[in-house]
Amino acid sequence: MLPVGVFDSGVGGLSVLAALRAELPHERFVYFADTAFAPYGERGDAYVIERSRKVAEQLIAEHGIKALVVACNTATTAAIHLLRAEYPTLPIVGLEPALKPAVATSRTGHISVMATRGTLASAKYAALRDSFAGSANVRAVPCDGLVKAIESFDATAIAELCARYMAEAGPFGNAPGEVDTVVLGCTHYPLVKGELQRHAPSALRFIDTGAPVAQQTRRVLASLGRLADGGEGGLVLQGSGDSAVLEAAAAHWLQQPQQQGMAARAATAA
Ligand code: DGL
Repeated sequence: MLPVGVFDSGVGGLSVLAALRAELPHERFVYFADTAFAPYGERGDAYVIERSRKVAEQLIAEHGIKALVVACNTATTAAIHLLRAEYPTLPIVGLEPALKPAVATSRTGHISVMATRGTLASAKYAALRDSFAGSANVRAVPCDGLVKAIESFDATAIAELCARYMAEAGPFGNAPGEVDTVVLGCTHYPLVKGELQRHAPSALRFIDTGAPVAQQTRRVLASLGRLADGGEGGLVLQGSGDSAVLEAAAAHWLQQPQQQGMAARAATAA
């Protein structure tokens, strides 16, 4: 059975990959981290489109992937429509900030969306907000620098930036006018949820998109008869950066030791 390709600008998509592997344990995945070209979120659409095209092309040419998961909000908003037009027979699943479930479950009607500047400035995000915000008060919090800090495992910068952006996302609470729900609109941010939570009351709800994307991928594969129906799943890690760093990051962020069926290998930049 052919693998499912998953990509992000770096390690952020590992938060989606974890959900995919839990939902689809028999599938083989190829995860591509475009680390040498990260971050995407502060660089503009043309750059993100070019990188997304190159990575998709490489995953298709080298692995003959049967589906592609764009595990990056920024790449989804900038490029998914182009990838779908270029590969009409390849099922492509993307993701966007989970505004709809946030609005549905918020009691105070005050929601903050933490995401990259690129995602929050996009026409796709504006359309999402127009469709689902309704009467909710939705605050956009662009988290410049946070992806870079996560990519470089810089604990001091991660702590500082999480404190700064949580201060911008609040005040939190269940009283009128207070934010009770935070949307993590960048796949890197669930990786530092523990650090974000340090600056919030325990009742604050964080919503990310890993599980719904995994369920959507299952539905798409099933509808096309492409679900792996048994056997051991597997994972190949690939990227445009240092393979040892990616391997270490995956072992760290996936919270599990390297396991059987997992092979990491270097690749040239896409
Ligand atoms: N993880 C990505 C996202 O969901 C992009 C981060 C970046 O490269 O800026 O938007």
